[in-house]
Amino acid sequence: MIKRPRRTRRNATIRRMVRETALSVDDLIYPLFVKHGRGEREPIASMVGHYRVSIDELVKEAQEVWSLGIPAMILFGIPEHKDEMGSEAYSRDGVVQQAVAAVKERIPELLLITDVCLCQYTDHGHCGIIKDGQALSHAEAGADFVAPSDMMDGRVRAIRETLESEGFKDTGILSYAVKYASSFYGPFREAADSAPKFGDRKSYQMDTANAREAIKEALLDVEEGADIIMVKPALSYLDIIYQIRSSIELPVAAYSVSGEYAMVKAADQEGWIEGEKLMMEMLLSIKRAGADLILTYFAKEAALIIRDHEEL
Ligand code: PBG
Repeated sequence: MIKRPRRTRRNATIRRMVRETALSVDDLIYPLFVKHGRGEREPIASMVGHYRVSIDELVKEAQEVWSLGIPAMILFGIPEHKDEMGSEAYSRDGVVQQAVAAVKERIPELLLITDVCLCQYTDHGHCGIIKDGQALSHAEAGADFVAPSDMMDGRVRAIRETLESEGFKDTGILSYAVKYASSFYGPFREAADSAPKFGDRKSYQMDTANAREAIKEALLDVEEGADIIMVKPALSYLDIIYQIRSSIELPVAAYSVSGEYAMVKAADQEGWIEGEKLMMEMLLSIKRAGADLILTYFAKEAALIIRDHEEL
């Protein structure tokens, strides 16, 4: 007769063997907000555990991220001055361009992705009039991937052509191909102070009711030369991730956005849910749906759990 505790242990082993999906640190991409100054770590109220950091602090973050085994970071710049044209976005000494160069100097292996969008840089908070020069200035600073996030048609091809003609063939394009007009971005807009000052983004972001349109957008960006296709947000769009995964050959990334993070953190602080377990369940579901890569504010916490083989 096998005693109960042993059977339980054996069952855990079997579960481990037949598990269909595994989350790996290799799948994670950590988003960070970078600003001017020195020694700055300004907490973001709606995103507990996240900060707007100056470049010297960003380098420390990058070292931590790399030591946890996380292969990549995506950087969002908070400019000193916003103006109508978003001029800091494409200036050689813009905050993101300097940040990329500083991190690359210390940890060249850490993959850096930069957001190519104007909403953080303009005084009106809208995304459009994308400047290819912004993508080019990021590539020149050493970014491995540029991530156009404005959802304007044709911008992947325009960026691809600019990069090729300027000798940056190896700079990849992570396209925010499928980006919904979602209320899950609330905390990010506080973090980047990028809420539109008039109107909304419904004319260039997708209607949350549409799935077929998502496939169309993804195929268009594949056609235009994207290297990775991203779906954003993640949690409410698992069906979209699943469908995109089965429609294209390129790697699929899912962006688990600020609102997804903030909800878990807030409920955890109230003691209403078990935050770590919920975090792992969410990330695993995104993987199970078909995402190859996950951009998540939980990346460091999840990496620690994965590293320690904690079964949550
Ligand atoms: C636009 C951009 C946004 C996010 C990433 N890139 C904001 C928006 O579309 O309003 C949101 C990410 C998040 O909520 O975590 N530059």
